[in-house]
Amino acid sequence: MATVEKEIREESEKITKVKKLVKKRAEELEDKALVQTPISEGTSWKELQFQYPNRIVRLGTLFSGIGAIEHAFQRLGLKHEIVFAGDIEPNCKKSYFANYQIKEEDWFSDIRDFDARKYKGKVDFIVGGAPCQAFSMVGHRLGFEDARGTLFYEFARVVKETQPKVFLFENVRGLLNHDKGRTWHVIHDIFEELGYDVKFRVLNSCDYGIPQHRERVYCLGFKKKTDFKYPAPIELEYKMYDFLEDYIDSKYFLKEKGVKFVTSHKNREKSYTQINGDIQLCQKRNQQFNWHGDFVYHPDSELTLSDEAFDEFIFDVRDVEEKYYLSDKVAKYVLAGGTKSFKTSTETDLDIARPLLQSMHKMHRAGVDNYVTHKGRIRKLTPRECLRLMGFKDSFKIVVSDTAMYQQAGNSIVVDVLIAILKQLDITKYGASVS
Ligand SMILES: C[S@@+](CC[C@H](N)C(=O)[O-])C[C@H]1O[C@@H](n2cnc3c(N)ncnc32)[C@H](O)[C@@H]1O
Repeated sequence: MATVEKEIREESEKITKVKKLVKKRAEELEDKALVQTPISEGTSWKELQFQYPNRIVRLGTLFSGIGAIEHAFQRLGLKHEIVFAGDIEPNCKKSYFANYQIKEEDWFSDIRDFDARKYKGKVDFIVGGAPCQAFSMVGHRLGFEDARGTLFYEFARVVKETQPKVFLFENVRGLLNHDKGRTWHVIHDIFEELGYDVKFRVLNSCDYGIPQHRERVYCLGFKKKTDFKYPAPIELEYKMYDFLEDYIDSKYFLKEKGVKFVTSHKNREKSYTQINGDIQLCQKRNQQFNWHGDFVYHPDSELTLSDEAFDEFIFDVRDVEEKYYLSDKVAKYVLAGGTKSFKTSTETDLDIARPLLQSMHKMHRAGVDNYVTHKGRIRKLTPRECLRLMGFKDSFKIVVSDTAMYQQAGNSIVVDVLIAILKQLDITKYGASVS
């Protein structure tokens, strides 16, 4: 009996010892703050040229959505081949297949069922932004296998199975602070455990040419050690208004309740809503049903009688728009009868000192379309505008409903940030030579 008691005592002492060790390790982990990779101080990425434009970059994407990286390659005119891609959402597949070249057999739906071993050594660059799932492995953090059951694990598994030369893992900024930074430690260490030189940094898309506040962590892994530094911010040349469409379907205009909400002092004060902002608040995937976010004050002179009541709820246009008065030249143009998509009308309007909104589409019809009367209305951004504010050119085909498109745009990665990264690391260096 005494021996059994002794064994139990010894066993429980061992367990206590291991527990202490794990606790200590977790504490050490907390102390060791991971430092973000610095910004490059050399030639701006805007000026950099690709060294090997003839190489083909073999691309694999996970959680592919609408293919931000694929669109970045298209915009850069880089030679590439989509080796595999996939998304669990059938509507994403629709958008993806309408916009990119991929064989049906190289598309997967649920990443958990995707066996990537057959692509080993056949892919140069893997990109993916796993939906952020709260996961934490503190105290029990031992490595790759312990991340099982998370979508991050699936990303890491595909990297392990295919061994790309470079990968990019994109995620929300909050991932760095989740669970006091432990979650990020786990991810970082697992990538290192897989044999990659890991770099990471939070970048805001408004520092890379797109007027949207969107901060994301961009984590790169390199098979070969590198002194890679992140692309330096550039000056923002365009405002949100420059990305708007010039013909807007009436379905995008708010009704009384929405106007009240969007213009309420509280919501504007707290930056839940913004009207005619220069830089878009971060785009959300549920833009469709959400009155939070960005709205546009828009001209509409064809109001019906019932709209008059609705107008009571419109904020005082003079507060916001006073600085945009018609110049003589523009006034002449506008008052002459308007343009195809916008007819200036009533005599009465001509008597009013009319404020002019900042050009809706500077690049096309400077000033003309943006003629505003006091009977202006507020509308939300259209799916096309959301896409533009994610860096997608109008060549991107919209083949799904508004709801799906808002969701897919809001979920995507800002293409211009990807372009900056691709240039900075010179992705063609990792491409395959054509024989
Ligand atoms: C944050 S979004 C990434 C969007 C993408 N980076 C883009 O450029 O549009 C995450 C995507 O992961 C997809 N997803 C979620 N769970 C998945 C799973 N188990 N397998 C494959 N895709 C999944 C979602 O449908 C969503 O499109």
